[in-house]
Amino acid sequence: MNAAIRAVVRRGLSSGLNVKGIYKGYNGLLNEEIVDMTARDVSDTIERGGTILYTARCAEFRTVEGQERGAEICRKHGIDGLVVIGGDGSFAGAQKLANLGINTIGVPGTIDLDIACTEYTIGFDTAVNTAMEAIDKVRDTSTSHERCSIIEVMGRNAGWLTGAAALSKGEDCEGPDLIYLPELPFDLQLFGEKIKQLLQEKTSIVVAVSEGIRTADGTYVCELGNSIDFVDAFGHKQLSGTASYLASYIAGEIGCKTRAIELSTLQRAASHAASRVDILEAYQVGGAAVKAADEGDTGKMVVLKRLSDDPYQCGTEVKDVHKIANDEKLVPRNWVNEEGTYVTNEFISYVRPLIQGDV
Ligand code: F6P
Repeated sequence: MNAAIRAVVRRGLSSGLNVKGIYKGYNGLLNEEIVDMTARDVSDTIERGGTILYTARCAEFRTVEGQERGAEICRKHGIDGLVVIGGDGSFAGAQKLANLGINTIGVPGTIDLDIACTEYTIGFDTAVNTAMEAIDKVRDTSTSHERCSIIEVMGRNAGWLTGAAALSKGEDCEGPDLIYLPELPFDLQLFGEKIKQLLQEKTSIVVAVSEGIRTADGTYVCELGNSIDFVDAFGHKQLSGTASYLASYIAGEIGCKTRAIELSTLQRAASHAASRVDILEAYQVGGAAVKAADEGDTGKMVVLKRLSDDPYQCGTEVKDVHKIANDEKLVPRNWVNEEGTYVTNEFISYVRPLIQGDV
């Protein structure tokens, strides 16, 4: 995120524009937390996790009154073009502002990779690096301590990040034995049977599960346990506790030694594992967004289009934001095996180029 903010600021300044930063998203807009940005403000930020502009979900901005007030505040501060970095929810807000006459351009930034029309979203592969590193570590200790480790990966309703955990498989790491994505209904009993069957072949098992897996009736697995029911300003439940529920379940059913590992926000703050693709593409989309805004484009999002796999190369395009807002890009069914326990080679070929190269 910071690499994208830096790109917007530097590109804007070098084009002779005044650049302002809005803290805490639409919440900050409504509270007029708007500051002038200089090149100094974005130096030394490229490898910092999180976002220097903070982030927030804002219920008021979902109302027509909130959106009209937001547009008024933009006009008051002389904002001619607004670059919105985020996911589908942020773009839905951007579209409202565009309809009210404020020029808005979206930049796809989320570790979830769930935005329609773009090949890539800023933050994804740095988060993948964290998941891969975790699996690499957990694999070794699970082997020596002969236990079943369940690793919970973020991504909400999209399984891109969890599926990409398969990339940890290589010469010195066996990778996960099982991968469960939220796109498919999760069957607790079949899961238990699968673990039992694997335990007849080996003494250590590593499972990657998405935080958003749900049973056939739509209940999140994390809701079956004792997790705290925290709900954000949009009414989204905070997903947490899936691994710990599953670890207790198999410990109870099978009696094997288990450990639950929830990667949680570590995935959004891995500056030590920052990916080169992430940084370069953040720069590409940030620059393209300022160019589009400066040329008077509005209601659009900069998307990344893959030009080649080897060497991996992406170019930018500009698409209508209404085609993207509130449309989740999910893992296609045929990129998961028949049993729903691992991703296919097509999935792996799609994500592998994204994680090439260190900063
Ligand atoms: O959208 C990014 C994401 O990290 C999701 O993968 C996750 O479900 C959600 O945000 C968690 O957000 P928070 O930590 O703010 O509850």
